[in-house]
Formats: sequence, C-alpha cells, structure tokens
Amino acid sequence: MLRSSLLSVALLAFAQSGAAYTLVDDFSATNFFPNFDFFTSEDPTHGFVKYVDAATAHSTGLTDIKTDSDGSQSVYMGVDYTNITHDGRPSVRITSKKSYNHGLFIGDFSHMPGGVCGTWPAFWMLGPNWPVGGEVDILEGVHQQTRNNMVAHTNANCSIQDWGFSGSLKTDDCDVEAPDQSPNAGCRITSTVPNSYGTGFNKAGGGVYAMEWTPEYIKIWFFTRAWGGTVPLDIELGHPDPKSWGFPDAAFQGPCDINDHFYDMQIIFDTTFCGDWAEGVWAESSCSDRAPTCLDFVRDNPAEFEEAYWGVNSVKVYQ
Ligand SMILES: *[C@@H]1O[C@H](CO)[C@@H](O)[C@H](O)[C@H]1NC(C)=O
Ligand SMILES: *[C@@H]1O[C@H](CO)[C@@H](O)[C@H](O)[C@H]1NC(C)=O
Repeated sequence: MLRSSLLSVALLAFAQSGAAYTLVDDFSATNFFPNFDFFTSEDPTHGFVKYVDAATAHSTGLTDIKTDSDGSQSVYMGVDYTNITHDGRPSVRITSKKSYNHGLFIGDFSHMPGGVCGTWPAFWMLGPNWPVGGEVDILEGVHQQTRNNMVAHTNANCSIQDWGFSGSLKTDDCDVEAPDQSPNAGCRITSTVPNSYGTGFNKAGGGVYAMEWTPEYIKIWFFTRAWGGTVPLDIELGHPDPKSWGFPDAAFQGPCDINDHFYDMQIIFDTTFCGDWAEGVWAESSCSDRAPTCLDFVRDNPAEFEEAYWGVNSVKVYQ
C-alpha cells in the first residue's frame, strides 16, 4: 500500500518534470562481459597482480554469472583465492568497449572487493592519453578502509571548490602535477557515509553509486542498502532524476573546463593488490602486523581473498 502510493507519487513527479535521462546502455548478467575488454598488460599502478584474459578468467572461475536464491542474477568478478602466487595474484581488469561524453552512470552492486588487507579495487572512468582525457575514481580504496575515496585526475588548469557536497574535501587541484600536492594526488573527496566502502558496504548488501557528468560538473552520489535502503525510487523505476537526490557525496566543479579535461571516458572495473597506493600505506595501515610487506601478505595468504570480488547487479548509462 505504502509502496504503491509512493510509486504513484514518483511517477507523477516524473511525468511533471519531463524525461531528462534516457537509458542508452544496460550492462547486466545477460550481456555484461561481451561489452567489456579484458586488460592483460602490466598493472600501470605497479600492483602485485596478474590480469588474465576473458577465457582464463572464465575457465578458472574468476568471472561468472551467479544466480541468487530469489532467482535474480549478478555478475561475479573475483580473484584467485586458492594459490600461493609468486608472479602476482590472478585478477581481472575490464574496460567498456564504448566510451562516453557526458551522461548518468549508475552502478548497482551487491558486493565489492574492499575491506581485505592488500586489496586496491576501483570502479572508475578513464579518458585517452592519461591524464589528458581525465580520470574519475567513483568507488576506490585500499585495505580495511571503511569510507569511499572519490578522486579526479587531469592535466593543468582544473581545480575544484566546495559548492555543496557531503564528503570531505582533501585536495582541490586535479592536476596530477600540482606543485603543492604529492604526485598524482588529484582532487580528492572522501565520503562521510558509513558503509560506502569495504566490509560495511558488503554487510549492508551493497548499494548504488551514481555519477552525473555534464559540461558544468561531475557529481557522485552513494545510496546504501543499509537501514532498509536509501536507493531513490526513481532509480529503481528506471527514470533517474538527480535533481531529486539532494546533495551529492562529491562534486568536481569549480575553475575547471570540464569538457576540456574529461572526454571519451570508458568504464573500468579492477582489483589490484599492493602497488603504488596500497603498498605505499601498508606500514601505517591496520594490516601491517599481518606481514612485513603488502606483497608478502598477498603472495602467501590466498584464503584471505575469497571476499575480494565484485557483485554487479547492473551498470546503466543514461544520456
Ligand atoms: C591455482 O593453481 C592450479 C594449479 O596450478 C590451477 O589449475 C588453477 O587454475 C589456479 N587457480 C586460479 C584461480 O588461477
Ligand atoms: C594552463 O594554463 C596556462 C596559462 O593560461 C597555459 O599556458 C597552459 O597551456 C595550460 N595548460 C593546459 C594543459 O591546459
């Protein structure tokens, strides 16, 4: 009763506002992997990882389509959690075949690889000729982090100001060579929302990340499934209207020409281990008493990585 009246209110609001966004791509269990390429080169972030191709991922169980008890299907992307590995832990990194300019990108996840020592997963977008075409990290973190880290990376002349978001602004210059920031820091906003990353995210049953990219700004919202769920009905109904969602968790907006600094971006999922970020902060992390280095830990403890998987219900693109 309550749900159906909420539904009619939402439909009425939708009818009155007019359809701003139309679905252009819907990647889910039935069509997910054919729409992505598997990246098999050395990890550009120097992780202790071995990215495998589509056939290897499938035959060794790193990728799969899972059917839940209620009959719904999700995309599984995991890592090797059985072998001690001396040349990097097998994992996957996939890139959408399509590239995009502007749009609303909505990732609905039941699970993410975070919360595990040694891991560095990300759901992100990347333009050509880094950092010229831009990079936006929508969902990213390392080790036992509990709150999401949202970052944009560009070349010179793009910085952001706090024009209203709930996250906490850490660095404001997106230029990877910004003189007063550590190399490649980018402009970084950390989430203030519990369950936005890692173990808490997974215990809550996951959630929805949405990124709206216009010529004026790039904004990111997170909706947890904790506390009975906060995912807006307009998303569930397939008529998303960001204007109704309130403050975003992050907004990349300010003295930055968005069209100059972000273009032709592709959607990427990966799970790497250690490398530039995760190895770099190992000693100061809560994981450091488990092994002398991140690499030692990832090499020697396969069973720790069973939970290091993506459960993707869908990635939808609206324009
Ligand atoms: C683990 O090693 C065994 C034996 O070499 C191999 O058959 C298997 O595919 C490996 N598992 C993964 C996930 O790579
Ligand atoms: C940044 O701005 C300066 C000053 O206008 C200009 O010389 C430089 O080419 C710009 N760099 C980029 C990458 O846009």
